[in-house]
Amino acid sequence: MERAIGVIDSGVGGLTVVNEIMRQLPNEQIVYLGDTKRCPYGSREESEIKEFTYSMVREIMTYDLKMLVIACNTATAYTLKDLKQMLDIPVIGVIKPGSRAAISVTQTKKIGIIGTEATIKSRAYEYSLKEINSDLEVQRLACPSFVPMIESGDYLKMNTLEMIKEVLSPLTNNKMIDTLVLGCTHYPLIAGEIGEVLGEDIHIISSSGETAREMSVILDQRNLLSKDLISSHLFLMTGNKDNFKLVYENIFDNRLSNFADVEIKQIELKELEESYK
Ligand code: DGL
Repeated sequence: MERAIGVIDSGVGGLTVVNEIMRQLPNEQIVYLGDTKRCPYGSREESEIKEFTYSMVREIMTYDLKMLVIACNTATAYTLKDLKQMLDIPVIGVIKPGSRAAISVTQTKKIGIIGTEATIKSRAYEYSLKEINSDLEVQRLACPSFVPMIESGDYLKMNTLEMIKEVLSPLTNNKMIDTLVLGCTHYPLIAGEIGEVLGEDIHIISSSGETAREMSVILDQRNLLSKDLISSHLFLMTGNKDNFKLVYENIFDNRLSNFADVEIKQIELKELEESYK
């Protein structure tokens, strides 16, 4: 059996990244872990975000992985640097790829970032964007109401447009930005509504495309690309399986079970020992 790619998120958001990984890298086997029981991470303190992320990492590293993707901006902002040092497989986050994608399309160099409170507070996007181009103007906005609405599946049942419009109003003033980064992996699930609110002139960027491209390059350079079309994937979550499946089906629309063995399983994460915290 080929070694798998591990993907973690606080909940269902990382599935938007998995969707793109499967499109660009269909030979790769995925082991996904979403800590849906403790989601959202984005309104938590740094210490808790780290502790919860490390407990996910410890669990997913029990599988035979060749790469780990932190498909969560919040966890990327607070743990990527350390995880890169701690693990002996390549570890990829979603903030640098999202920044590159935004820089590749902006004309006015005015970029908006929306994300969880913790991601926005960390200024991780701002640093990452300005590290590449110091001449950018960056606007930041936390949207704490978006993740609970997506995680619960409510975005599929209600009209979210008015609420999204209200939340994004600080960014919709005259030509403030020409590019908006969806700095949370849950947000691509409401990208249609966000696009409707912002209008056609604003580019909407999700980091998943560029993340999968970066993975592809790294796997290729290290001679780790799988040779054959993959036949099985594993999706693990810590919370309610029905909720997870609702969003899972919204994203994959039965496409997966047509050509691969898919297992969806609820698990418990173990408490971290003091030495890991
Ligand atoms: N999907 C996570 C992210 O990209 C955030 C969700 C949460 O708040 O837990 O930041």
